[in-house]
Amino acid sequence: MELSERIMGIKPSATLAITSKAKAMKKKGIDVISFGAGEPDFDTPQYIKEAAKQAIDKGKTKYTLSIGTPELREAICKKLLDLNNLEYKPEDIVVSNGAKHSLYNIFQAICNKGDEVIIISPYWVSYSEMISVAGAAPVVVAASWADGFKVRLDNLAAALTDKTKAIIINSPSNPTGSLYSKDELRAIFDLLKGKQIRIISDEIYERLIYDGLKCVSIASLSEESKDTTIIVNGVSKTYSMTGWRIGYIASNDRALTKAIKNLQDHSTSNPSSISQEAALAALTKEDSSVEDMKKEFEKRRDYMVERIKGIDKISCVKPMGAFYCFVGMKEVNKNTLELAERLLDEAKVAVVPGEAFGTPGYIRLSFATSMENIKEGLNRIEKWLKQ
Ligand SMILES: Cc1ncc(COP(=O)(O)O)c(C=O)c1O
Repeated sequence: MELSERIMGIKPSATLAITSKAKAMKKKGIDVISFGAGEPDFDTPQYIKEAAKQAIDKGKTKYTLSIGTPELREAICKKLLDLNNLEYKPEDIVVSNGAKHSLYNIFQAICNKGDEVIIISPYWVSYSEMISVAGAAPVVVAASWADGFKVRLDNLAAALTDKTKAIIINSPSNPTGSLYSKDELRAIFDLLKGKQIRIISDEIYERLIYDGLKCVSIASLSEESKDTTIIVNGVSKTYSMTGWRIGYIASNDRALTKAIKNLQDHSTSNPSSISQEAALAALTKEDSSVEDMKKEFEKRRDYMVERIKGIDKISCVKPMGAFYCFVGMKEVNKNTLELAERLLDEAKVAVVPGEAFGTPGYIRLSFATSMENIKEGLNRIEKWLKQ
């Protein structure tokens, strides 16, 4: 029996073959070092876990409003004001089952067949698939190594058409860790101004930035940029809560938040009531764990970047945020799907090929793994390359 055209169009994940193979090898007792992690390797902080336990004991185990509890949406507004200098009301917030779900909802709510959504490569793999499922077409604008993997305005301008519905800005970025400055965001916004193009600002890595840098939300540039931007964020990466599945959007556009509420009412209903209580604690009772985790990531990043610099034929742009190094491998093999396969088979190191991010010729190494693993994994890569 036939499946829907919508679902048949979804491509299998380019990373799946490698990651499932790495898992199978580990299960057989083979000592594989994995640089594939897309989540912090730290445990969820204790104060958050305690809040979840209390939520169960207090009976917070029933349906909540499908857009999330008023308390959590209030706390999200406070965070947006304190950290991003953005004023939103709880009615402007929709809490969903992770930022990925928030993004999915957005595309369902704004896209029609024939619409185009601009994504900047290297891009997070799920964007293009979610856009396609919503019936629209992802339009890829490549950002180059020479530009620090940030989009050039002339390239962006050339991609705009009267079908452009939205653009996704992901800063700091997965997979490159690039971070747009306020001036760079202003230049992008000025180019889009008055064109009826929505800006989807994926800020999921906003707290994981290094060298004392600050993350600026494109929404915070002006009232006008706030009106056009849909902020996407969540607790997964900042609080090491990937499994709890809490993400959210913030938007002034009441028609949009209402449409997403309706969609959520008839699809998932509310995100887990217990996870919402945990997220509320994460945001309102933060201890030193986020800063501690960040310091450790920064140490690992510095080590990884230095080691990569010392290895012949490979190089990387120092990531300013997130927890990935995007490593250029063109001198070794432009086909990084094949290269990743060989690294796994021969060096017993799992990496994510650049093909997964629309950019062959690179591999993504996650430093969300112990320093010991990073050292050993890089030793293996270095030795393998020498051979
Ligand atoms: C760029 C980017 N956006 C969104 C997400 C989704 O995060 P969540 O766990 O909240 O669904 C991820 C997760 O890997 C990501 O890398």
